[in-house]
Amino acid sequence: MGGGWQAVDDYIAGKLLCADDALAATLANNDAQGLPPIDVSATQGKMLFLLAQIAGARRILEVGTLGGYSTIWLARALPAGGELVTLELEPHHAAVARENLVRAGVADRVDIRVGPAAESLAAITDDAPFDFVFIDADKQGNAHYVAEAIRLGRPGTVIVVDNVVREGGVLETDSDDERIVGTRALFDMLSADPRLDATAVQTVGAKKWDGFVLARVR
Ligand code: SAH
Ligand code: DHB
Ligand code: MG
Repeated sequence: MGGGWQAVDDYIAGKLLCADDALAATLANNDAQGLPPIDVSATQGKMLFLLAQIAGARRILEVGTLGGYSTIWLARALPAGGELVTLELEPHHAAVARENLVRAGVADRVDIRVGPAAESLAAITDDAPFDFVFIDADKQGNAHYVAEAIRLGRPGTVIVVDNVVREGGVLETDSDDERIVGTRALFDMLSADPRLDATAVQTVGAKKWDGFVLARVR
């Protein structure tokens, strides 16, 4: 069945996504420089692009850059004069991302901030409010990152959180996997926070069985 998911993703990408040298070069460079292949898929990247455009986003915040694959999709959704701030813990990931963003022609719109996201978020003052926030870093931090996205957002800000299903792992009540514990803490936070409307959508495809949270600040 997993093979079917990949084949259908390939079919969708072949029909609806243009062949893209900058994105292909990004994945090749990430691999050559030892980054893990945990970027969003091509069809998910285009979904992020579409959601940011539907939201009319002029200022985008991303938590978890890796090699900038999702960053490129989101940066391409910005209008002239738009800006994207992306937060990354690992200096090597940020350096590879910078190369990829330059090759893709979007480096002028993107500000990569290196360090623990919680610290970078706490230091943000004059870049807010953000219109669109994509959270895709350490899963332990997710509830805090959503709280920060609300603080740095405005009514109508769109928040997307990646990897909230983990092949059903989200149901493990007594997991000692801190990513599962963090994901469940995220759902607890979302269910209790009156400042958001939220859902989560399960996905299958190149990234197997997973899902994303979609939320809007009230
Ligand atoms: N959004 C990327 C994938 C991100 S993978 C894409 O789809 O292309 C997750 C990234 O989060 C990794 O690069 C990892 O180094 C980073 N990360 C992990 N913990 C972090 C933290 N505490 N603060 C900031 N980034 C973190
Ligand atoms: C992992 C992180 C991700 O953001 C992802 O999309 C897939 C896997 C991980 O930490 O294993
Ligand atoms: Mg992810």
